Amino acid sequence: MSIDPYAGNLDFWEKAAATHGVDEDSDHYRFDAVIAGGTLMTPTEQRAVATATGGTDDDPLAGVRGKDVLYLQSHLGADGVVMARAGARVTCADFSATALRRAQELAAQVGVQIETVETDSRAIPESLHGRFDLVYVTVGAICWIDDLDRWMRQVSLALRPGGRFVMVEIHPLYQMFLKTSPEVVIDFPYGGGASLTDTDTGSYAAPDAEWTSTTTNYAHSIGDIVTKAVRAGLRIDVLEEHVTSDIDPRGDSSLVRGDDGKYRLLIGRGNEEGSQPEPLPVFLTLLATKV
Ligand SMILES: C[S@@+](CC[C@H](N)C(=O)[O-])C[C@H]1O[C@@H](n2cnc3c(N)ncnc32)[C@H](O)[C@@H]1O
Repeated sequence: MSIDPYAGNLDFWEKAAATHGVDEDSDHYRFDAVIAGGTLMTPTEQRAVATATGGTDDDPLAGVRGKDVLYLQSHLGADGVVMARAGARVTCADFSATALRRAQELAAQVGVQIETVETDSRAIPESLHGRFDLVYVTVGAICWIDDLDRWMRQVSLALRPGGRFVMVEIHPLYQMFLKTSPEVVIDFPYGGGASLTDTDTGSYAAPDAEWTSTTTNYAHSIGDIVTKAVRAGLRIDVLEEHVTSDIDPRGDSSLVRGDDGKYRLLIGRGNEEGSQPEPLPVFLTLLATKV
């Protein structure tokens, strides 16, 4: 039986939103850290926001104070709650009602207010148009989007002229690898919106969960991302490709952790027999401005 991709993805995210951050032994979504005054934003995410908003190394979120921030596809909302604590007026938008309820619960525990909007990110409501100084998107968002042109237009519609778009995403090259050991398996296309549908149990943050879902992911290349952002009326300021990562976003063994604690995508070998290859890109940071 075939399943509508949007319905299948929503089903997955409703189940994930009810499960993530619940198991106290999991390394993912450690809200106790946020409630204690910390953040789940990675150094890469903090640097991106600092660069876009005028934050500093010591206080990367200093620039969000007094700003209107849209956290698009916010999942459980932790980064939005942290930005609200830093003085931003934050709206979290997601298509999962359960995720938004969990985000409100976290905000209440931290003692900040956030607005939540249940919406398909390919068609945000007019009430969000032209309202934001910053649209923030991070890790694992655009792979759920079939029509990236339409999605980028929503980002552009949400921003005020001069508003900034910050996206930290999984690099499309890394996305292609199902696994890298004991053998390399590449099962995902590079771009053009091509899709892969899969039925699996659990999720990246709840691998032992017993629920099953059928999800569809879409491939967007670097060229797709840049072209569609520009076509939507965004000026690209920075496109940075990261060959090291502070986190292992998939929680599997496809990245190798070095002595410096950083994760790298290492395929094949270097010049010399037995030598390490040069690392391939794992993440990207896109900073853009609404013109
Ligand atoms: C991997 S999460 C993003 C990660 C998130 N930034 C975090 O820190 O946990 C992807 C999010 O996209 C949302 N999502 C997927 N497709 C969507 C759509 N078409 N419209 C709105 N939200 C969507 C999911 O509900 C989920 O919360």
